Amino acid sequence: MTKKFYITTPIYYLNALPHIGHAYTTLAADIMARYKKAQGVPVHFLTGTDEHGANIERSAQNANVSPQEWTDNLAQKFKELWAELNINYDDFIRTTEPRHERTVQEVFEVLLKKGDIYKGKYSGKYCMSCEAYIDESELLPNDLCPIHKKPTQFIEEETYFFKLSAYGELLLKFYEANPTFLSPKFRSNEIINFVKSGLKDLSVTRTKVKWGVPVLSDPNHTIYVWFDALVNYISAIGYGKKLGLSEYADYKYNFDEFWPAEVHLLGKEISRFHSVIWPAVLMALGLPLPGKTFAHGWWTIEGEKMSKSRGNFIDPRDITTKYGVDSLRYFLFREVPFGGDGDFSMDSFKKRFNADLANDLGNLLSRTLNMAAKTVVEIPQNYTEKSNLLAKAQETNKTYFEQMDNLAFDKALDSVWFLIGDMNKYIDETKPWMLAKSEPEKAKAILLELIFALKSVVGWISPFMPKTAEEMARRLAVGPIEKYAPLFPRIEAEPKHN
Ligand code: ME8
Ligand code: MG
Repeated sequence: MTKKFYITTPIYYLNALPHIGHAYTTLAADIMARYKKAQGVPVHFLTGTDEHGANIERSAQNANVSPQEWTDNLAQKFKELWAELNINYDDFIRTTEPRHERTVQEVFEVLLKKGDIYKGKYSGKYCMSCEAYIDESELLPNDLCPIHKKPTQFIEEETYFFKLSAYGELLLKFYEANPTFLSPKFRSNEIINFVKSGLKDLSVTRTKVKWGVPVLSDPNHTIYVWFDALVNYISAIGYGKKLGLSEYADYKYNFDEFWPAEVHLLGKEISRFHSVIWPAVLMALGLPLPGKTFAHGWWTIEGEKMSKSRGNFIDPRDITTKYGVDSLRYFLFREVPFGGDGDFSMDSFKKRFNADLANDLGNLLSRTLNMAAKTVVEIPQNYTEKSNLLAKAQETNKTYFEQMDNLAFDKALDSVWFLIGDMNKYIDETKPWMLAKSEPEKAKAILLELIFALKSVVGWISPFMPKTAEEMARRLAVGPIEKYAPLFPRIEAEPKHN
C-alpha cells in the first residue's frame, strides 16, 4: 500500500466558465482522494487555474477589464463550482500567485545554467489558440491548426529552447520500465510512437506575449504558458522552498513528503504535455517522475462536441439543482469507462437515475428498513453469521478495491450494483415479510444480512456519493424507527408537447 497519495488535475484555463468537462476530471480526483483518505492514507489533492498567456489576455481585453481582474473573477467561479459539487481539494493553485511565478522563474534559470535551456531563433507556423508552433507535418491543408482548425501564422522570433530532443531515449526507457505510467494502456502507443518519431527542441519563451512570467535574466521574454503551467505540480507543494525562495519560508506543504505525484489526471488532448514534456523537464531537474499520467476521454453533449459557438456547454448546476449533486457524480463515473469517450444526454441520465438510484439502491434501502421496522428489535453491533450474501459481499469488496486502484470507476460501481441486484433478488425470493409470521428467526437473520451488506454498500459508494452515503449510514445506524423520504425520488417523464 502506498504511504501517501498525491493526485492532480490539469489547471484549467481561465478563458471561459467551467463546464461539465472540467468538473469530470476534478470529480475523478475527488473520488480517488476520498477513496484513499478513507483508507487512512495521507492524501494531497491539487487543482487550480492556468492564468497566463495571450488567450487570457485577449479575453480580458474583450471584456474591458485587466487580466488580473478577469482571472480573479473566473478563478472564483471555479472555486464556487467545486464547492457546490462537494469537491474537497487540499490546495488550489493559481499560476498568478507569487509562490508559483517565482518557482517558474527559478526553474527556468536552473535549466538555463545546466544548458537544458538555450537561446535560439524560431520560425514556423504558430496557432494563436494553442499558443504554440505547429510542426509542418501536423498542419492541415491551407496551414490550418489540426486542433482548432483555424489558420496559423508565420512567426519568426528569438526564443529560448528546452532541449527536449535530448530526452527521447530516456523517455522510451522510462515508459518501458514503468508500463503503467502511460495510462490507460490503449492510449500509450500514440505517445510512444510520437517519441520514437523523434523529438524536437521546444520553444519555451515568447517575446510577443506580455501577460506571462518574465524570464528573470532576460525580461523581454515571457515564459511559454505550458512550461509555466506544468510547473504548478511542484510549485504548489513547495519546490520553490527547496530552491531557496523566500516566498516559501513558512509554507505549509512539504515537497519531500508528497513528490512525486502518484497520479496526474488529464484529458487525452493534453497527453503529450504531461507524458512527454513534463517528464523530460523533471529529468532535467533531476527529480523523480510521477507514478502515472492518466488521460481520460472526452464528453460530448447529446452527440455533439461541447463548444462556445454551439452554446451547448453544460453547467453542472443545470443538473444538480434539479436532481442533486450525488446523482451527477454517480452518473459520470458509471456511464462511461474512465479513459474512454462518452456522451452526456438527459435521456441516459434520467434512465440511470431511475433504474440505478431510485429503483435499485433507493428501494433496496427503503424495503430493508421498512421490513426491519416490523421485525428486528435491535441491531447487534457485529453480525458474524456465515451466509451467501455476506460471502458475495466479500467478493464484491475485493473486486471494488482492485478496480478502484486502477481508476476503473465504472467497473468498481458495476460490482457494487451487481451486489445490489442480488440483494433485491434475495428479498424477492425469500420474502422476509411473509417469513416474519411463519419463521420470525429466519426473517430476522435475513434482514440482518441485508443491513450488514448495506453498510458495506455505504462504504463503497461514499467516494462517489458522499452525501447519500452519509444519509444511508444515518438511517442504518438509527435503526428502523423513522419514516424516511426516498433517497432518490423517481424522475417522472415530462409530458410531451407537439
Ligand atoms: O488544457 N470532456 O486547460 P483547459 C472531458 N490549461 N474532459 C474535458 C472536456 C470534455 N469535453 N473539456 C475539458 C488546459 N475537459 C491547460 C492545462 S495543465 C498543466 C494545463 C477537462 O481549460 C480535461 O481534463 O483547456 C481537459 O484536459 C481539461 O479540462 C482542459 O482544460
Ligand atoms: Mg483545452
